[in-house]
Amino acid sequence: MTEPKKRILTGDRPTGKLHLGHYVGSLKNRVALQDAYQCFFIIADLHTLTTRPERKYVRELTQNIYEVVLDYLSIGIDPERSTIFLQSALPETFELNLIFEMLVTVPRLSRLPSIKDMARAANIDDEAVPLGLIGYPVLQAADILLPRAHLVPVGKDNEAHVEITREIARRFNRLYKKTVFPIPDVMIGDVPTLVGTDGQAKMSKSLGNAILLSDDKKTVEKKVGGMYTDPNRIRADIPGRVEGNPVFIYHDAFNPNLDEVNDLKDRYRQGTVGDIEVKQKLAHAINTFLEPIRERRASYEANPGMVEEILMEGTRRMQAIAQETMTMVYDAMGLTGPKLRRALHSGEPFRLLS
Ligand code: TRP
Repeated sequence: MTEPKKRILTGDRPTGKLHLGHYVGSLKNRVALQDAYQCFFIIADLHTLTTRPERKYVRELTQNIYEVVLDYLSIGIDPERSTIFLQSALPETFELNLIFEMLVTVPRLSRLPSIKDMARAANIDDEAVPLGLIGYPVLQAADILLPRAHLVPVGKDNEAHVEITREIARRFNRLYKKTVFPIPDVMIGDVPTLVGTDGQAKMSKSLGNAILLSDDKKTVEKKVGGMYTDPNRIRADIPGRVEGNPVFIYHDAFNPNLDEVNDLKDRYRQGTVGDIEVKQKLAHAINTFLEPIRERRASYEANPGMVEEILMEGTRRMQAIAQETMTMVYDAMGLTGPKLRRALHSGEPFRLLS
């Protein structure tokens, strides 16, 4: 008999369309690992509430959920093999989150730079940090461990959250003397953090320096044309710097023509190529990379209802596994309420005293 496949869980908050930074940081790994692993991709809408609980933002999520599922399908996630599901559809997530809240300390969570970064990005000062934001990594641990995942492909900024998840899994298994959860490994993409088109450290939609997976050809040409290069190179005939130069970082990440890239680098260093040519070739490479993604997107868009159907089917599959995990969790703990709940459901007797 062959071993059952190990599981992957990863996903994204539905804050908008995904971009090239998401692709090299994590999406690329997900597509590549679809065969070797049983994959679960979560649309983590509850996580957005940690910084944005307002009605206005909650309502925007619906459209964004559609966009993220469509982005997943466009890059080649195959809904037959992989499971795409919506976090807030599963009450088991809320349940497991509460159990896990007991297994990690507040100082451990408060020290994480990622929590501070998210608070800063959302203009929340120290005194106004919600409990739910401190608990962000705990909710993420619930996401990861609900399907009892073994591997978590994520961007560098999520690495510490997987470490918290490992600690919680170990602690649960120890406390309740039962190996319910695997200790999941993290996997970081080959470009852990992609620079923005403006040279800022990180590509981000909110910083306005992103190239979206759904951008059309003209938009890519325009964005690449406006990219930041070597600021000291004021004319094409003086030598330029290749290292750390965003246009060359992108060439390395998206241009498969190594001879062309090496030739451009050589001539850039010598001062015998202009930014325009470097950028035109880059725009061409990115557009060639995005073309099959655009075609798949168009084919899904031409079938109204398809995205919804895929999300429903994925959530249905995940629901069955979530219920199975929670039964294992409550049995390991010996908690009474879930037994009462089962008795109510089945009509079988319920005893407090044995
Ligand atoms: N924290 C991830 C982000 O930065 C989103 C996320 C939520 C996630 N739950 C997850 C990622 C579980 C991997 C695994 O957007």
